Amino acid sequence: MKVRDALDYLCDQHQKHKLLFESLPDKHNYMVLRDKIIRHVNLEEEVLFKNLLEMDLFREQIDSAWEDHKNLMLILKDLDSHEYNSPSWKEAFRKLKSIHELHIQEEEKEFFPEIKSQVPDDYLATMAEQMRSHAKNQEANFILYPSIPGQHERPPEQGREVCT
Ligand SMILES: [Fe+2]
Repeated sequence: MKVRDALDYLCDQHQKHKLLFESLPDKHNYMVLRDKIIRHVNLEEEVLFKNLLEMDLFREQIDSAWEDHKNLMLILKDLDSHEYNSPSWKEAFRKLKSIHELHIQEEEKEFFPEIKSQVPDDYLATMAEQMRSHAKNQEANFILYPSIPGQHERPPEQGREVCT
């Protein structure tokens, strides 16, 4: 799939996650999937959400997305505490899969179309560039540990420009 803008970039990642979900059970593939989900969540927060908040757009949807991201990260952390492929691991993995499916559905069917209708194409293309450069510098383990779930808290209001 040719990546055209920031939303395509994220949808492309969703597709890759789906393929990995389908290729399980396989421990190596699970670790790849885990890593990709962590990086994806971080990318959405650090690039997409930050840009949207700077434009003062979609605060409510972003608050809700942060909650969903936090749940995804907590389930990944929970999975780490179980033996791979044990019954409790499988149970947690089922939760991961269903929350992840919901994540994709909410973004691709609801949130992204709204963004597309309100954010200019050139801005979305610029965000895709930002995502590429951000992705190069991501450290998955650093993102997840030790700051879960604080890493995914709403950024402070201070420092944002206020019109006077
Ligand atoms: Fe996503």
